[in-house]
Amino acid sequence: MNIKPRKVVIIGAGHVGSHVGFSLATQGICDEIVFIDIYEKKAEAQTKDLEDATVYLPHHVNVKSGNYSDVDDAEIIVVSAGPLPDPTGGMTRMDTLGMTIEAIKPIVENIKKSNFGGILIDISNPADVITHYIQEKTGLPPERVISTSTTLDSARLRKVLAKELNIDQKSIYAYAMGEHGESQMVPWSCASIFGKSLYKLMEEKPETYGKLNLDEIAKKAKAGGWDVLYGKGSTEFGIGTSAAELIKTIFSNERKVSMISVLLNGEYGQKDVYASVPAILGKDGVVEVIELPMTEEELKQFALSCDTMRENYKKALNM
Ligand SMILES: NC(=O)c1ccc[n+]([C@@H]2O[C@H](COP(=O)([O-])OP(=O)(O)OC[C@H]3O[C@@H](n4cnc5c(N)ncnc54)[C@H](O)[C@@H]3O)[C@@H](O)[C@H]2O)c1
Repeated sequence: MNIKPRKVVIIGAGHVGSHVGFSLATQGICDEIVFIDIYEKKAEAQTKDLEDATVYLPHHVNVKSGNYSDVDDAEIIVVSAGPLPDPTGGMTRMDTLGMTIEAIKPIVENIKKSNFGGILIDISNPADVITHYIQEKTGLPPERVISTSTTLDSARLRKVLAKELNIDQKSIYAYAMGEHGESQMVPWSCASIFGKSLYKLMEEKPETYGKLNLDEIAKKAKAGGWDVLYGKGSTEFGIGTSAAELIKTIFSNERKVSMISVLLNGEYGQKDVYASVPAILGKDGVVEVIELPMTEEELKQFALSCDTMRENYKKALNM
């Protein structure tokens, strides 16, 4: 009998990469985790640290530090290499584009030379533009190259709303779309509490729902990443868990609707741009983009966000 282990290769074993690995291990989502880092000693150290944890975990998982020969039979590659925005402030994720492209170039070359036939999830920022760059440069099919992008911003948005409303966040359907960055937008007209329109609830219950300040909530959720970065110098638990959630969805072929960055092909009136949208995700990658019935104004905001990515993607190609 030939049972193939579920293998994930994590390229960039820093704060994010290590937490993706930890989240996968603690939840028993895969059987093998391989860390690759330009600093081999760091990949080795993350391996040893995670291996120590596996002794007390309920799931068996093999962890090792490796190299690009490991991607040939991997089902999933996670790219989490690259610099962080200055943790003392003043930089956007998009400002790290040039530095991240430099870090990504050798990764792209190595993946291109490999026999990788699985799904690649990019986390490195600016996530949507870097994902587009990786897809173009590796030539991997677009449905198999995605980014976590606003998976995390959506979690932050639901968390803020949950606290305002005192309702469990899993019962709140509200999402950030477009860029994992400054131009992201929230299609509030599509937000609901377990299917009941948030707008309708605000109208019907002015004393509770009606008091929500949606602009402030969106702003607070968008600032969430910066609050964490400025406070502790990195963000890791939220993104580690977000990536693990997508990997679980893929391995289990859940076909769950996930808020991920995908290459758009006419959906929402956009083409040839990576942006976060709700999409069905399964074992072969992106199955279908779900087009929410946004208002004209929301579509305009989404288009502006796509323009930001398009503009910066052009710059990336010349870097
Ligand atoms: N999308 C998101 O939601 C999200 C959240 C947090 C961080 N990030 C991004 O993830 C990336 C990593 O963040 P971090 O906090 O882990 O940073 P970090 O500095 O802790 O780790 C980055 C790691 O990448 C390695 N690296 C650099 N170039 C490499 C290469 N060519 N090949 C292999 N490894 C290489 C470094 O040695 C380092 O260990 C950044 O781009 C950051 O902006 C994205």
